[in-house]
Amino acid sequence: MPSKASSYKLRPFVEAPLSSSGEKPIELESIDLSLYEDGPGHLQSRKELAAKIEKSLSTYGFISVINHGFEAEKLEHLKSIGQALLEVPLEEQKKYLAGALKSDLEDRSKSIGAERGSGYKPKGYWSMQNGVEDSITHYNFNHLNHSSFFDTEVNNYPEVAKDHLKEIAEYFRFVHTDVLKKICNLTDLALEVPEGFIYENYYSIKEGDYDGSGAGYGRFMLYDAMPPEDEKKVNNTWLRGHSDSGGFTFLTSQPILSLQIRDYYTGRWNFVGHTPNGLIVNVGDAMEFITGGYYKSAVHRVVSPPDDQKNYRRFVVIYFSRPKESAILDPEPLNSPKLKRLGYNKPDEWEKIDFAAWNKIKSSLFGRKAVNDTNTEGPKLVLLHGRLHERWHNAESNFSLEEAKKRFEVITLEG
Ligand SMILES: [Fe+2]
Repeated sequence: MPSKASSYKLRPFVEAPLSSSGEKPIELESIDLSLYEDGPGHLQSRKELAAKIEKSLSTYGFISVINHGFEAEKLEHLKSIGQALLEVPLEEQKKYLAGALKSDLEDRSKSIGAERGSGYKPKGYWSMQNGVEDSITHYNFNHLNHSSFFDTEVNNYPEVAKDHLKEIAEYFRFVHTDVLKKICNLTDLALEVPEGFIYENYYSIKEGDYDGSGAGYGRFMLYDAMPPEDEKKVNNTWLRGHSDSGGFTFLTSQPILSLQIRDYYTGRWNFVGHTPNGLIVNVGDAMEFITGGYYKSAVHRVVSPPDDQKNYRRFVVIYFSRPKESAILDPEPLNSPKLKRLGYNKPDEWEKIDFAAWNKIKSSLFGRKAVNDTNTEGPKLVLLHGRLHERWHNAESNFSLEEAKKRFEVITLEG
């Protein structure tokens, strides 16, 4: 706790009450991690959990996790820290920016941008439809799993973050080394590779070796309501449909009805319901590619909530896990008998790339005007290394690059 007089006050984050709007959210498959136990005696129960994970992640690309083991009171405390961090006034935020003030002003040859950098992404960084800019503030932490995270000489942290590094690291490290590890081990069982293979080869941490370790961005993200005239121009969308670029994403579930998943088969948007004290977990592009397209990196978005939740804000704690930079993004290193049997092989058009190559370009596209200022609910699709940057229909039986080119505007971008 801070010993000096601090410039901020921690207070509980107030969640919205459950909506009585009658909206019917989809029921995500819920995985109870208290049933996960190590050792040969519990293999059968792990296999049962693996089967549940496999079914959901290879169709929706989303699951919810309950009984993950991180204390609810501690998580509430972390939310109050995140809320205070994101309520720092803009003038003060400017001393701790993750990138430039706008995505289109970012010199990507020098900066990794606010999507990946440490620090604040202020409101208005991303371009949306019809000239509208986003109304979201976020703060990213990097190198969470290494001791350098605590080095306040190297890292320029705002006061509220500096005072609570221990609590911040504790949560995100738990998600990486415990929850992520279990999801990876269950994926090993589903894909019939040795248990421990995916975590060890893609996500394990070697202290101080940033490129040779799995990693993740820990993020606090706060959505303020948009001005009504802006909201109209973007058709009530607060964050446009996209897929995540990394491994698995973990976000704190909350009652505000605003996260939607796009069903690959029907194209319909469905609200994600609330799982009290749960985490919502989704597949990112890297895991889709590593599994040869078996796991689905689902397109999702955030829209304005129903009327009875309009006076509440959406605030989420997110961990975007990602494999190590040198991880090859195709199914060959996994050598999974299951994927081979099901016919999920590396498509010929995929160039052999590593995660660093994918993440660099994919992350830079999210807020670019050239990609996002469209009259459709989706962005223009960008062809990267023989793959589409987002695959809006990839679970359809006839989905292919050729098919996508007929149905969407597919562009290529330099840099
Ligand atoms: Fe996302």
